[in-house]
Amino acid sequence: MERACRFSFLSWMLSFLSVITAASWHPPMITKFTQKDLVNPNDVKYDDRPYAFELPCEASGTNLTWKWKHNDTEITTFNDRPYFLSDDGTLTGNHLAAEHSGSYQCFVKDEKTGIEVFSRKLKVAVTVLGEFIDRKDVEKKVDLGESFQVQCPKHTASFGAVFSWVGKQSIHLSRDARRGISPDGELFVTYITQQDIDEINGIKCHITAGNSYEESKPLKLEKNNPQQTDSPTSRSPSWADVPAAEEFAIEGRSKTLYCFANGRPEPQITWKKNGQQIIHGQNSFEISHHYYGRRLIITNVNKTTHQDVYTCEANNSQSNGQPLIHTTSLMVKVKAVKRDVKNKTNSILMT
Ligand SMILES: *[C@@H]1O[C@H](CO)[C@@H](O)[C@H](O)[C@H]1NC(C)=O
Ligand SMILES: *[C@@H]1O[C@H](CO)[C@@H](O)[C@H](O)[C@H]1NC(C)=O
Ligand SMILES: *[C@@H]1O[C@H](CO)[C@@H](O)[C@H](O)[C@H]1NC(C)=O
Ligand SMILES: *[C@@H]1O[C@H](CO)[C@@H](O)[C@H](O)[C@H]1NC(C)=O
Ligand SMILES: *[C@@H]1O[C@H](CO)[C@@H](O)[C@H](O)[C@H]1NC(C)=O
Repeated sequence: MERACRFSFLSWMLSFLSVITAASWHPPMITKFTQKDLVNPNDVKYDDRPYAFELPCEASGTNLTWKWKHNDTEITTFNDRPYFLSDDGTLTGNHLAAEHSGSYQCFVKDEKTGIEVFSRKLKVAVTVLGEFIDRKDVEKKVDLGESFQVQCPKHTASFGAVFSWVGKQSIHLSRDARRGISPDGELFVTYITQQDIDEINGIKCHITAGNSYEESKPLKLEKNNPQQTDSPTSRSPSWADVPAAEEFAIEGRSKTLYCFANGRPEPQITWKKNGQQIIHGQNSFEISHHYYGRRLIITNVNKTTHQDVYTCEANNSQSNGQPLIHTTSLMVKVKAVKRDVKNKTNSILMT
């Protein structure tokens, strides 16, 4: 009787011990992963820096091995270019190009139990320098006093690249009250003067990303009538470039809107949100003086704050207090991010 009792006590002790052992074993858990997608221009740029991105995937657990997938395909070669995998699971990428954009997902496996966990898919957009396609001279004829616009010659898709126009000795054509360069490189002049023709003739479109650049063939600009002289005639504003009636933005990313109006004297641009003038520096809005008020950037889009009706308004002395108004509805998309309340924010258990 006593022996049986002792035996059952012992077996109870043993089962208790095995429970303790099981409790001290943890399935692998990802403890450090990049929170924010690398999707804004220059989050990742093509550059001479040794590492263009570094994606941690630290995990707790034992007997762990790491695996990464790019666009749902396992990365199998890690020889420094473009990918390198550290012992702690960190994926580094360098000398990245357009094809390295897409989704990155980390998998951590406990080799002993076969249990594997994986991260969310991190979105990455690599800054890309466009290349000019048909390298033909662009020739344009103009009349003094008329508006002028020319696109940056045809080039492959760019992401996060910066556009400018450069003249002789690589001098950048400046934006001013009459001249604008849109974020995608289109050059606008409200009304053209002899000085513009002299400065614009021979300039090239210049695309920069990281510390590389591409340049177009020169733009040739001349007057239809070489003898023409400027005769100032005032004109009320008219649009040369406006955003679409409906624009889309993604929460957490940046959004740019651009307006350019022709007219003489040169029109002034005012941005409003739901009828209220937008102030530079407030609520993530930036209206850079460098762009003469024509470019509105929302640096960190938030649906609550930014989904609204926007107007850009152009006026000059010919407007008589009745500005030209363009209306754009901004729709903000919110990405569904799966969050686990038990602090497994980045881990999803796979069995
Ligand atoms: C959640 O995880 C982070 C590391 O990713 C850790 O620093 C933090 O202490 C954890 N919080 C809780 C409540 O466990
Ligand atoms: C698992 O990890 C433990 C301790 O971390 C180690 O002693 C053991 O050899 C590992 N087993 C395998 C199969 O790697
Ligand atoms: C991965 O997907 C991105 C976005 O869809 C694409 O731009 C990129 O070229 C893809 N790369 C590869 C190697 O599939
Ligand atoms: C958006 O703004 C609201 C109010 O200002 C704030 O409560 C919320 O946390 C913000 N959302 C994000 C995703 O930043
Ligand atoms: C244009 O409108 C702005 C803002 O309403 C105003 O401050 C400015 O004086 C106007 N300019 C002209 C030339 O009417």
